[in-house]
Amino acid sequence: MIPQAIIDKIFDTAPIEEVVGEYVSLKRAGANYKGLCPFHDDKNASMSVSPSKGIFKCFSCGQGGNIFQFIMEHEGVSYPLAIKHLADKYNIPIEEGQIDVNELKEEARVKEGVYACLEFARKHFYERLNESQDGKVIYKPYLNERGINQQTIDKFSIGLSGTHKSHLLDEGLKNGYGAQQLFDAGLVKKISDDGGVIESNLRDTFIERIVFPIFNVSGKVLGFGGRIIKKDTKAPKYLNSPETVVYEKRKELYGLSVAKNDIRIKDQVFLVEGYMDVVSLNQSGVENVVAASGTAFTEEQARLIKRFSHNITMLFDGDVAGVNASLKHISTLLAADLNVRVALFPADEDPDSFIQKRGTAEFQGYVAEKAQNFIELIAEIKLGDNKHDPIKKAEAARSVAENIAALPDPLKRAAFINEAAALFEIPERILVDEVNKFKLDNRRQKDREVRREARVEEQHRNDGPPPDFDYVPDYGEMHTPPALLEDKKNYQEEELLKTLILYADKEFDEEQTVAQFIFKELEEDEIWPVSEDLAPIFKEAHAYLEEHKVLNELYFIRNATTSKVAAEVLSMRYTISPGWFDNFEKVVKTDEDGYKHQVVQNLNYVKLKHIEILMLENQESLKEAETEEDIKISLEVQANLQEFRKKITDQLGNVIR
Ligand code: GTP
Ligand code: MN
Repeated sequence: MIPQAIIDKIFDTAPIEEVVGEYVSLKRAGANYKGLCPFHDDKNASMSVSPSKGIFKCFSCGQGGNIFQFIMEHEGVSYPLAIKHLADKYNIPIEEGQIDVNELKEEARVKEGVYACLEFARKHFYERLNESQDGKVIYKPYLNERGINQQTIDKFSIGLSGTHKSHLLDEGLKNGYGAQQLFDAGLVKKISDDGGVIESNLRDTFIERIVFPIFNVSGKVLGFGGRIIKKDTKAPKYLNSPETVVYEKRKELYGLSVAKNDIRIKDQVFLVEGYMDVVSLNQSGVENVVAASGTAFTEEQARLIKRFSHNITMLFDGDVAGVNASLKHISTLLAADLNVRVALFPADEDPDSFIQKRGTAEFQGYVAEKAQNFIELIAEIKLGDNKHDPIKKAEAARSVAENIAALPDPLKRAAFINEAAALFEIPERILVDEVNKFKLDNRRQKDREVRREARVEEQHRNDGPPPDFDYVPDYGEMHTPPALLEDKKNYQEEELLKTLILYADKEFDEEQTVAQFIFKELEEDEIWPVSEDLAPIFKEAHAYLEEHKVLNELYFIRNATTSKVAAEVLSMRYTISPGWFDNFEKVVKTDEDGYKHQVVQNLNYVKLKHIEILMLENQESLKEAETEEDIKISLEVQANLQEFRKKITDQLGNVIR
């Protein structure tokens, strides 16, 4: 553990404008500074730096936080390494043992070595494609025949791997890279698992393949995808780099570093299946395109896309595999609150072949015409021509309900329920029930997973007999609804946290600050935030308040887990320009005065959310109730909850006015 005193010392010594100024040229803008954001292709000085608050915030890509966050993001290092970096720079001594300096050096050293190897390999592969005999007579003509020109080869740095088992290995060693480094980079593999990472036990990962370097969002090579062109082998058509210390597949999207600017300009991104689709569309002028290359689409990838646009259109093959893939991706994208459309291509075409054959204009026309939302897509897939087959209709409606349940935004849920009801000619309230069932199922499922993990962990500690997975504990006495425990996207709690950050040390009434009021309320009603990310934040802040008797924005800025959200919330106010402020002084003033209402309101929303879930769960146990006694209890609980809810909604109504 790094002592808090050192961290505080760094905060007090290293001005944020100086730390950021190392990497970005900053211009004064009132009390703050502005500069080009280094985390995306910025043209408008979207990044703001506030010396008084010690935070930076980009209003275009959303990056933000304190000095350590900046170093972590910019240098791609861990929190302790960022601390070490700034401590060294500002001559703040760290004593032996406070940070394991050797370990940090090791982490940095390994990563640096891996990046260097990957960049070396990229260059080597690229040169082979362009200069070797094989490249010139076989591989480049193959690419050209598929319509890929030199400019595109250069843009995506497409290359050719070696012809024999140790081509890159030999070259790498010759150029001063270690066997271990090449192995860590995923460029060579072990021949025998038992053997060590020594030259005689290693061979190239990519042999005789066209290789597509996979870049991270800022353009660093992380790995490769390799396509074989020989037809007679049993080898897979595509081979990808393994996961390494720098390449976490679930976090990357192929083509993003090239596409990001166009994605932002068009506020629209196309998601395709393959490397060739990305490259080929780009060459034809459709540059806002990325691929999730082969793997399932993840939450992290959805978040990455969201940094550039909220509007995503999936372009998938119309065959069974393509349809299934698009259905699988949809719920992940919807859950991330992205606006999703899907255009399916004819069964024997993919975006690459389509645009090569028919040209850009026809491609764009096709996509515009075919792109549909998930309801239309599911109706098309599940119903086909049997528009009135009641069984198929029910099946399709159920699948639609399942996807609607994934939407975090209640307004969007309502809108889609409305649309689906009209399309399937099913009464809305029946769809609502169905959606709620799926929501409950999802929560239950998550709940079970959490409990299972907890039991396994507990078992681990006790080292007793194997855990009984079928045992369902009785939560009767617990106040926190279990379904809430794993509810990751709890907007209400997020809003409450923002309120807390903004107004923690402001007066709520004569006796208490806002922070004291919020925590008192939470304790009295036994409704404590439960979402995975936020619960520990509230707990820690509460503990801090108890211990130090003060809690203010500085706490949230300096705390590693909250500095990003603090930057987001606090920069809302400081970026208001003086002119704007004059014009809207009245509005802003009212808002300032309204903070108490905001506090009460957000607290109430958090409570409402709890009650809603308790009610859903109780309804479910009512359905399963077998004895009259059970039924009676459930009905009583329901009545109590309803009463509690009414009190809160009444109060909300009063506060909002
Ligand atoms: P071309 O056949 O060259 O046009 O490429 P493609 O992108 O059209 O290939 P395809 O539609 O067959 O596959 C789409 C994507 O799935 C590829 O870009 C790969 O990321 C992945 N993929 C396809 N085949 C394999 C394979 O054999 N192994 C692995 N790991 N991934 C594959
Ligand atoms: Mn293809």
